[in-house]
Amino acid sequence: MNDRFNNQLHNDVCEGLRKTNKSLPCKYFYDELGSEIFDKICLLEEYYPTRTEISILENNIENIQKYLINNLSIFEFGAGSVKKIKILLDNLSIKNYIPIDISFEYLKHHSKILSKSYKHININPLYGDFTDSLTNQNIPINNYINRIGFFPGSTIGNFEPSVVSKLLKNFGNFLGKNSKLIIGIDLIKNKKTLLNAYNDKEGLTAKFNLNILSRLNRELNANFNIKFYKHTAIYNELLNRIEMHIISLKNQSVYIDNEKFYFREKEIIHTENSYKYSLDGFIKLVKNSGFTTLDSWTDDNRFFSILLLNYDL
Ligand code: AVI
Repeated sequence: MNDRFNNQLHNDVCEGLRKTNKSLPCKYFYDELGSEIFDKICLLEEYYPTRTEISILENNIENIQKYLINNLSIFEFGAGSVKKIKILLDNLSIKNYIPIDISFEYLKHHSKILSKSYKHININPLYGDFTDSLTNQNIPINNYINRIGFFPGSTIGNFEPSVVSKLLKNFGNFLGKNSKLIIGIDLIKNKKTLLNAYNDKEGLTAKFNLNILSRLNRELNANFNIKFYKHTAIYNELLNRIEMHIISLKNQSVYIDNEKFYFREKEIIHTENSYKYSLDGFIKLVKNSGFTTLDSWTDDNRFFSILLLNYDL
């Protein structure tokens, strides 16, 4: 891990833990171990988003194809283990695949495996943080024509609705006028299904959530004693979001460098929001981003939706 990344991690973490309502940025879930646990979560019976999104893509790939030209360069934002892309690589005319992620070692490893099965496609994994403007990150965008973006998994749900339009606009500015974006969003549904998805019986989501503290021990020399913290996930019906929390099980303190942080018994560290949208509500946010919605598809239960957008600016 480079020094710049480590400083950023240190600053972001300390800033979050100094607040009265403590929080940690969810992008730091994804070190190598966190990415591995997340991949396992995606296979869980309770975690419906992954298999639902895959089935929507598979069932509608011909319709998606109708909107696209040949010899595409496809950029995936926050690609992780590059699994869902296979449906696109198998069915669309793709010349270049550029997965972008901050979990770079993990990305490189999985891209290498992928390239063995797709020798005719140029696969070029790049380090990049899509939460920042991508235009300043030394990505050689002009080497690629016919650009489209891929942002699956409802990762957009991990951002505040107030920044969604800005984030989409960043993608649009990066990809260029008339580029397309394929994006997955998780829809509002019954509370039980939602709660089960984030409180799985096997405890993988708990492991995923608490791994962020272990990561701080590993990378910032912090001294969290993980057994004195607990995972919870609640559904905030007012804001249509799952909230993941880590709860301190007793009064305790932790050092990060020379700074001491106190945690009261039952005090919460808010680690993630996962917003759920109505299709109409999300299309309204898209309208403020410079993109227009060309089409959208959903599953029979209306659990999840894939949208195809066009950048008009
Ligand atoms: C990556 N992201 C869309 C997942 C979600 O559902 O919000 C992360 C996750 N958190 C707990 N389980 C999965």
